[in-house]
Amino acid sequence: MKYLITGLFTAVFLTTTAQSEQRIVVGHALSPASHYGVGAQAFIDKLTEVSDGAFVGEQAPAGQLGGERDMIEGLQIGSMDVVITSTGPLGNFVPEVFALDLPFLFRDYDHARKTLDGEIGQELLAKIGENDLVGLAWSENGFRHVTNSQRPVRTPADLNGLKLRTMENKVHMTAFSGMGASPTPMAFPELFTALQQGVVDGQENPVTVITASKFWEVQNYVSLTGHVYSPAVVLASPSLIDGLSDEQKDWFMQASVASAAATRAEVNRLEEAGVALLRENGMEVITDIDKAPFADLARASYSVYIDEYGTEMVDRIIAVK
Ligand code: PAF
Repeated sequence: MKYLITGLFTAVFLTTTAQSEQRIVVGHALSPASHYGVGAQAFIDKLTEVSDGAFVGEQAPAGQLGGERDMIEGLQIGSMDVVITSTGPLGNFVPEVFALDLPFLFRDYDHARKTLDGEIGQELLAKIGENDLVGLAWSENGFRHVTNSQRPVRTPADLNGLKLRTMENKVHMTAFSGMGASPTPMAFPELFTALQQGVVDGQENPVTVITASKFWEVQNYVSLTGHVYSPAVVLASPSLIDGLSDEQKDWFMQASVASAAATRAEVNRLEEAGVALLRENGMEVITDIDKAPFADLARASYSVYIDEYGTEMVDRIIAVK
Protein backbone atom coordinates (compact mmCIF):
# COMPACT_ATOMS: atom_id res chain seq x y z
CA MET A 1 0.00 0.00 0.00
CA LYS A 2 2.82 2.36 1.03
CA TYR A 3 4.55 1.68 -2.33
CA LEU A 4 1.32 2.25 -4.23
CA ILE A 5 0.83 5.66 -2.59
CA THR A 6 4.49 6.59 -3.15
CA GLY A 7 4.18 5.42 -6.74
CA LEU A 8 1.05 7.48 -7.30
CA PHE A 9 2.66 10.53 -5.71
CA THR A 10 5.73 10.18 -7.94
CA ALA A 11 3.59 9.79 -11.05
CA VAL A 12 1.52 12.88 -10.19
CA PHE A 13 4.67 14.85 -9.35
CA LEU A 14 6.42 13.90 -12.59
CA THR A 15 3.36 14.73 -14.68
CA THR A 16 3.06 18.11 -12.98
CA THR A 17 6.75 18.83 -13.57
CA ALA A 18 6.58 17.70 -17.17
CA GLN A 19 3.48 19.84 -17.76
CA SER A 20 4.86 22.92 -16.08
CA GLU A 21 7.99 23.21 -18.21
CA GLN A 22 7.64 24.24 -21.82
CA ARG A 23 10.09 22.79 -24.35
CA ILE A 24 11.41 25.13 -27.04
CA VAL A 25 13.18 23.95 -30.19
CA VAL A 26 15.81 26.26 -31.69
CA GLY A 27 16.43 25.42 -35.36
CA HIS A 28 19.45 26.40 -37.44
CA ALA A 29 21.43 25.24 -40.47
CA LEU A 30 24.84 24.48 -38.97
CA SER A 31 26.53 22.06 -36.56
CA PRO A 32 26.13 22.39 -32.76
CA ALA A 33 29.82 23.41 -32.60
CA SER A 34 29.33 26.29 -35.08
CA HIS A 35 28.74 29.97 -34.23
CA TYR A 36 24.98 29.32 -34.65
CA GLY A 37 25.21 26.24 -32.39
CA VAL A 38 26.96 28.34 -29.74
CA GLY A 39 24.23 30.99 -30.10
CA ALA A 40 21.42 28.43 -29.96
CA GLN A 41 22.85 26.92 -26.78
CA ALA A 42 23.27 30.37 -25.21
CA PHE A 43 19.60 31.07 -26.04
CA ILE A 44 18.44 27.85 -24.37
CA ASP A 45 20.68 28.29 -21.31
CA LYS A 46 19.62 31.90 -20.74
CA LEU A 47 15.94 31.12 -21.23
CA THR A 48 16.10 28.27 -18.72
CA GLU A 49 18.05 30.43 -16.27
CA VAL A 50 15.81 33.52 -16.32
CA SER A 51 12.59 31.47 -16.35
CA ASP A 52 13.87 29.40 -13.44
CA GLY A 53 13.33 26.21 -15.44
CA ALA A 54 9.83 27.05 -16.72
CA PHE A 55 11.26 26.88 -20.25
CA VAL A 56 13.79 24.31 -21.38
CA GLY A 57 15.06 23.78 -24.88
CA GLU A 58 16.96 21.79 -27.44
CA GLN A 59 18.66 22.52 -30.73
CA ALA A 60 17.52 21.21 -34.11
CA PRO A 61 20.90 21.81 -35.81
CA ALA A 62 22.32 21.12 -39.28
CA GLY A 63 19.12 21.78 -41.20
CA GLN A 64 17.43 18.77 -39.54
CA LEU A 65 14.12 20.60 -39.93
CA GLY A 66 14.89 21.93 -43.42
CA GLY A 67 16.77 24.76 -45.07
CA GLU A 68 16.51 28.33 -43.80
CA ARG A 69 13.61 29.15 -46.11
CA ASP A 70 11.66 26.09 -44.88
CA MET A 71 12.33 26.98 -41.26
CA ILE A 72 11.09 30.56 -41.76
CA GLU A 73 7.91 29.17 -43.31
CA GLY A 74 7.66 26.85 -40.28
CA LEU A 75 7.72 29.89 -37.98
CA GLN A 76 4.90 31.50 -39.95
CA ILE A 77 2.65 28.46 -39.68
CA GLY A 78 3.65 27.68 -36.08
CA SER A 79 5.47 24.39 -36.66
CA MET A 80 8.81 25.93 -35.52
CA ASP A 81 9.46 27.84 -32.26
CA VAL A 82 12.72 29.74 -32.71
CA VAL A 83 15.13 29.89 -35.67
CA ILE A 84 18.57 31.42 -36.08
CA THR A 85 18.95 32.23 -39.77
CA SER A 86 20.98 34.38 -42.11
CA THR A 87 19.06 37.07 -43.97
CA GLY A 88 19.72 35.08 -47.17
CA PRO A 89 16.14 33.88 -47.72
CA LEU A 90 14.49 36.45 -45.41
CA GLY A 91 14.08 39.13 -48.09
CA ASN A 92 11.66 36.76 -49.84
CA PHE A 93 9.37 37.26 -46.83
CA VAL A 94 10.33 40.80 -45.74
CA PRO A 95 11.66 42.63 -48.85
CA GLU A 96 12.91 45.67 -46.86
CA VAL A 97 15.61 43.39 -45.40
CA PHE A 98 17.25 43.12 -48.85
CA ALA A 99 18.95 46.45 -48.00
CA LEU A 100 21.25 44.55 -45.62
CA ASP A 101 22.29 42.08 -48.32
CA LEU A 102 23.76 44.67 -50.70
CA PRO A 103 27.37 43.85 -51.55
CA PHE A 104 30.25 46.06 -50.35
CA LEU A 105 27.82 48.11 -48.24
CA PHE A 106 29.18 47.56 -44.74
CA ARG A 107 32.76 48.76 -44.19
CA ASP A 108 33.60 46.34 -41.38
CA TYR A 109 32.12 44.43 -38.42
CA ASP A 110 31.92 47.56 -36.32
CA HIS A 111 29.84 49.35 -38.98
CA ALA A 112 27.48 46.36 -39.41
CA ARG A 113 26.97 45.79 -35.69
CA LYS A 114 26.37 49.50 -34.98
CA THR A 115 23.78 49.60 -37.77
CA LEU A 116 21.93 46.52 -36.56
CA ASP A 117 22.09 47.47 -32.89
CA GLY A 118 20.76 50.97 -33.60
CA GLU A 119 17.65 52.60 -35.03
CA ILE A 120 17.92 50.87 -38.44
CA GLY A 121 18.12 47.43 -36.86
CA GLN A 122 15.06 48.16 -34.70
CA GLU A 123 13.08 49.42 -37.71
CA LEU A 124 13.87 46.28 -39.66
CA LEU A 125 12.94 44.02 -36.73
CA ALA A 126 9.60 45.85 -36.67
CA LYS A 127 9.15 45.21 -40.43
CA ILE A 128 9.85 41.52 -39.80
CA GLY A 129 7.08 41.67 -37.19
CA GLU A 130 4.59 42.78 -39.87
CA ASN A 131 5.10 39.53 -41.80
CA ASP A 132 3.86 36.72 -39.53
CA LEU A 133 7.25 36.49 -37.85
CA VAL A 134 8.77 37.88 -34.64
CA GLY A 135 12.25 39.40 -35.01
CA LEU A 136 13.87 39.08 -31.59
CA ALA A 137 17.49 40.19 -32.13
CA TRP A 138 20.15 40.65 -34.79
CA SER A 139 22.84 38.03 -34.65
CA GLU A 140 25.66 37.34 -37.11
CA ASN A 141 26.98 35.07 -39.82
CA GLY A 142 29.95 37.17 -41.00
CA PHE A 143 31.60 38.62 -44.11
CA ARG A 144 31.28 36.21 -47.01
CA HIS A 145 34.18 34.93 -49.15
CA VAL A 146 34.33 32.87 -52.34
CA THR A 147 35.57 29.26 -52.34
CA ASN A 148 35.93 26.97 -55.37
CA SER A 149 37.50 23.79 -56.64
CA GLN A 150 38.92 25.12 -59.93
CA ARG A 151 41.35 28.05 -59.58
CA PRO A 152 42.49 30.92 -57.37
CA VAL A 153 40.06 33.84 -57.74
CA ARG A 154 41.90 37.18 -57.61
CA THR A 155 39.94 39.27 -60.13
CA PRO A 156 36.37 39.20 -61.48
CA ALA A 157 37.76 37.59 -64.67
CA ASP A 158 38.65 34.55 -62.55
CA LEU A 159 34.96 34.13 -61.73
CA ASN A 160 34.02 33.83 -65.40
CA GLY A 161 32.14 30.62 -66.06
CA LEU A 162 32.36 29.42 -62.45
CA LYS A 163 29.14 27.76 -61.31
CA LEU A 164 28.74 29.30 -57.91
CA ARG A 165 26.10 28.33 -55.38
CA THR A 166 24.44 31.39 -53.86
CA MET A 167 21.70 31.72 -51.31
CA GLU A 168 18.13 32.03 -52.59
CA ASN A 169 18.54 35.81 -52.65
CA LYS A 170 18.01 37.96 -55.74
CA VAL A 171 20.43 40.68 -54.58
CA HIS A 172 23.27 38.15 -54.25
CA MET A 173 22.38 36.43 -57.54
CA THR A 174 22.36 39.72 -59.45
CA ALA A 175 25.66 40.71 -57.84
CA PHE A 176 27.36 37.46 -58.90
CA SER A 177 25.99 37.64 -62.44
CA GLY A 178 27.43 41.17 -62.58
CA MET A 179 30.81 39.91 -61.36
CA GLY A 180 30.86 37.26 -64.11
CA ALA A 181 29.98 34.03 -62.29
CA SER A 182 27.02 31.74 -63.01
CA PRO A 183 24.98 31.93 -59.79
CA THR A 184 23.04 28.80 -58.82
CA PRO A 185 20.64 29.32 -55.91
CA MET A 186 20.39 26.32 -53.62
CA ALA A 187 19.33 25.57 -50.05
CA PHE A 188 22.34 25.05 -47.77
CA PRO A 189 21.58 21.42 -46.77
CA GLU A 190 22.10 20.41 -50.44
CA LEU A 191 25.38 22.26 -50.84
CA PHE A 192 28.05 19.86 -49.59
CA THR A 193 26.89 17.06 -51.90
CA ALA A 194 26.53 19.49 -54.81
CA LEU A 195 30.16 20.57 -54.31
CA GLN A 196 31.31 16.97 -53.91
CA GLN A 197 29.57 15.85 -57.11
CA GLY A 198 30.67 18.91 -59.11
CA VAL A 199 27.10 20.14 -59.64
CA VAL A 200 28.57 23.53 -58.67
CA ASP A 201 32.25 24.59 -58.67
CA GLY A 202 32.10 26.86 -55.70
CA GLN A 203 30.12 28.71 -53.10
CA GLU A 204 30.44 31.77 -50.89
CA ASN A 205 30.17 31.93 -47.11
CA PRO A 206 31.96 33.39 -44.10
CA VAL A 207 35.01 31.70 -42.55
CA THR A 208 32.67 30.63 -39.73
CA VAL A 209 30.65 28.48 -42.14
CA ILE A 210 33.58 27.26 -44.26
CA THR A 211 35.25 25.88 -41.13
CA ALA A 212 32.06 24.53 -39.49
CA SER A 213 31.15 22.71 -42.73
CA LYS A 214 34.70 21.44 -43.42
CA PHE A 215 34.47 22.70 -47.00
CA TRP A 216 38.20 21.94 -47.37
CA GLU A 217 37.09 18.37 -48.09
CA VAL A 218 35.50 19.54 -51.37
CA GLN A 219 37.06 22.96 -52.15
CA ASN A 220 40.68 23.90 -52.92
CA TYR A 221 40.67 27.70 -52.96
CA VAL A 222 39.28 30.42 -50.73
CA SER A 223 39.48 34.07 -51.81
CA LEU A 224 38.98 36.59 -49.03
CA THR A 225 36.66 38.79 -51.09
CA GLY A 226 34.53 39.91 -48.11
CA HIS A 227 32.00 40.85 -50.79
CA VAL A 228 29.00 41.06 -48.51
CA TYR A 229 28.23 41.14 -44.80
CA SER A 230 25.84 38.36 -43.85
CA PRO A 231 23.66 39.25 -40.86
CA ALA A 232 21.80 36.60 -38.93
CA VAL A 233 18.64 37.10 -36.94
CA VAL A 234 16.93 35.30 -34.08
CA LEU A 235 13.32 34.77 -35.16
CA ALA A 236 10.36 33.30 -33.31
CA SER A 237 6.91 32.13 -34.26
CA PRO A 238 4.04 34.55 -33.54
CA SER A 239 1.93 31.59 -32.42
CA LEU A 240 4.49 30.98 -29.65
CA ILE A 241 5.19 34.60 -28.66
CA ASP A 242 1.57 35.81 -28.81
CA GLY A 243 0.61 33.26 -26.15
CA LEU A 244 3.19 34.53 -23.64
CA SER A 245 2.82 36.99 -20.75
CA ASP A 246 4.90 40.19 -20.81
CA GLU A 247 7.30 38.67 -18.30
CA GLN A 248 7.75 35.57 -20.47
CA LYS A 249 8.29 37.73 -23.57
CA ASP A 250 11.05 39.53 -21.69
CA TRP A 251 12.72 36.15 -20.95
CA PHE A 252 12.76 35.43 -24.69
CA MET A 253 14.29 38.86 -25.37
CA GLN A 254 17.01 38.24 -22.78
CA ALA A 255 17.71 34.83 -24.30
CA SER A 256 17.98 36.37 -27.80
CA VAL A 257 20.39 39.08 -26.65
CA ALA A 258 22.56 36.42 -24.96
CA SER A 259 22.41 34.29 -28.11
CA ALA A 260 23.50 37.13 -30.42
CA ALA A 261 26.34 38.09 -28.07
CA ALA A 262 27.62 34.50 -27.91
CA THR A 263 27.43 34.12 -31.71
CA ARG A 264 29.27 37.39 -32.34
CA ALA A 265 32.00 36.38 -29.86
CA GLU A 266 32.41 33.13 -31.80
CA VAL A 267 32.55 35.04 -35.11
CA ASN A 268 35.31 37.22 -33.62
CA ARG A 269 37.24 34.15 -32.49
CA LEU A 270 36.96 32.44 -35.88
CA GLU A 271 37.92 35.58 -37.81
CA GLU A 272 41.23 35.28 -35.91
CA ALA A 273 41.69 31.51 -35.89
CA GLY A 274 39.63 30.32 -38.87
CA VAL A 275 41.93 31.28 -41.75
CA ALA A 276 44.82 29.35 -40.17
CA LEU A 277 42.49 26.36 -39.89
CA LEU A 278 41.65 26.59 -43.60
CA ARG A 279 45.37 26.59 -44.47
CA GLU A 280 46.11 23.72 -42.08
CA ASN A 281 43.46 21.72 -43.89
CA GLY A 282 45.03 22.29 -47.27
CA MET A 283 43.10 25.21 -48.75
CA GLU A 284 44.99 27.88 -50.69
CA VAL A 285 43.95 31.19 -49.12
CA ILE A 286 44.06 34.14 -51.54
CA THR A 287 44.42 37.42 -49.68
CA ASP A 288 45.91 39.82 -52.30
CA ILE A 289 42.57 40.91 -53.72
CA ASP A 290 41.74 44.35 -55.11
CA LYS A 291 38.07 44.64 -54.12
CA ALA A 292 37.30 47.73 -56.23
CA PRO A 293 36.64 45.93 -59.58
CA PHE A 294 34.42 43.37 -57.79
CA ALA A 295 32.48 46.22 -56.14
CA ASP A 296 32.02 48.09 -59.44
CA LEU A 297 30.55 45.03 -61.16
CA ALA A 298 28.40 44.04 -58.16
CA ARG A 299 26.83 47.50 -58.15
CA ALA A 300 24.14 46.32 -60.62
CA SER A 301 22.47 44.50 -57.73
CA TYR A 302 21.68 47.77 -55.91
CA SER A 303 18.81 48.41 -58.31
CA VAL A 304 17.05 45.26 -57.01
CA TYR A 305 16.49 47.15 -53.76
CA ILE A 306 16.67 50.81 -54.83
CA ASP A 307 14.14 50.55 -57.68
CA GLU A 308 11.51 49.59 -55.12
CA TYR A 309 12.54 51.42 -51.96
CA GLY A 310 14.77 54.29 -53.12
CA THR A 311 18.19 55.24 -51.75
CA GLU A 312 17.20 56.51 -48.30
CA MET A 313 17.94 53.34 -46.31
CA VAL A 314 21.20 52.73 -48.20
CA ASP A 315 22.33 56.31 -47.51
CA ARG A 316 21.40 55.98 -43.84
CA ILE A 317 23.38 52.75 -43.52
CA ILE A 318 26.42 54.31 -45.19
CA ALA A 319 26.14 57.30 -42.80
CA VAL A 320 26.33 55.12 -39.65
CA LYS A 321 29.67 55.90 -37.99
O1 PAF B 1 24.97 30.00 -47.18
C1 PAF B 1 23.98 29.95 -46.44
O2 PAF B 1 22.91 29.48 -46.81
C2 PAF B 1 24.07 30.58 -45.05
O3 PAF B 1 25.17 31.41 -44.96
C3 PAF B 1 24.13 29.51 -43.95
C4 PAF B 1 25.35 28.66 -44.09
C5 PAF B 1 22.90 28.61 -43.99
C6 PAF B 1 24.20 30.19 -42.58
O4 PAF B 1 23.15 31.05 -42.36
